[in-house]
Amino acid sequence: MPGVTARACANIALVKYWGKRDAALNLPAAGSLSLALAALVTETCVELDPALGADLIELEGKPAGATEAARVTTFLDLVRERAGITTRARVTSFNRFPTASGLASSASGFAALAVAATRAAGLELPPRELSILARRGSGSAARSIFGGFVRMHAGNDDEAAYAEPITSSLIDRVRMVIAIVGGGVPKTHGSRDAMDHTAATSPFYRAWVDLVPRDLAAAEHALATRDLVALGEVTEHNALAMHASAIAARPGVLYWRPATLALLAAVRTLRQNGRAAWATMDAGPHVKVLTTVDDADHIARALANVEGVTATTISGPGGPAYVVG
Ligand code: DP6
Repeated sequence: MPGVTARACANIALVKYWGKRDAALNLPAAGSLSLALAALVTETCVELDPALGADLIELEGKPAGATEAARVTTFLDLVRERAGITTRARVTSFNRFPTASGLASSASGFAALAVAATRAAGLELPPRELSILARRGSGSAARSIFGGFVRMHAGNDDEAAYAEPITSSLIDRVRMVIAIVGGGVPKTHGSRDAMDHTAATSPFYRAWVDLVPRDLAAAEHALATRDLVALGEVTEHNALAMHASAIAARPGVLYWRPATLALLAAVRTLRQNGRAAWATMDAGPHVKVLTTVDDADHIARALANVEGVTATTISGPGGPAYVVG
């Protein structure tokens, strides 16, 4: 049987998802809002093969480790159950990310897998159904089914927790500068374990979950009114609040390296000097800066000079996940 190849862009949350209401269904505790990035693409091929006794999963040209393989097989089981088949699959996946970017993306990975695996199994799912399915693999993957600005709904049950695109004319103006912090960074906590640990032990977790609806409303209002300054402000505040909740967990989850703080300071200086620049950080030391098409080059050059930064990339907005060919 021929394989089906799909591509999906990674996304960076401007209002973060950090914590679950239900681990089995992977329902988020709150909504989130993101921007898809054209520079960060995962390409995944799924080939169903009746001769296989087990799924064969290759990531970046190497057999997947036990944990990753189990996560992919659990996801494929959902697709098989839905299609009424039991055939095992050969899965190959590559990140077409800027060289040595240090960015891992379960978002683009599970979105591309959802699109390729359903099509390979003979299912034709509408985008909303794909988003719900991708969420089961990884919460942020629900957003990577769509392009541009995307809103994820918290939802109370499986059917209600999906993402959808938000139309805003700001999309033509925005860029993201990604500053990679390298230099012997120890292996950090994966987002899944770290958000569970935050929910279980951080005294600030409840405050974080209560804050998200307000930040979402502010971000959506900013998109509707084409107010980049308001969008940038809520982006930076929300990332700092998410990290504050994680830092206050016991023991604390601290993703920042000295270069992360130097980048945060550099972004503030750029802003004071009249540039459009607002920082956000995820489950790692890297800093992503929301900016404009006019300021992106200047910001990328400035951030490349910060000590500890090993690479910078400028990305425009990405499109939706799709089947190749
Ligand atoms: C910090 O989507 O990786 O990037 O649902 O457990 O797979 P799981 O979590 P994941 O978490 C993403 C966390 C984040 C913020 C975000 O993308 O919203």
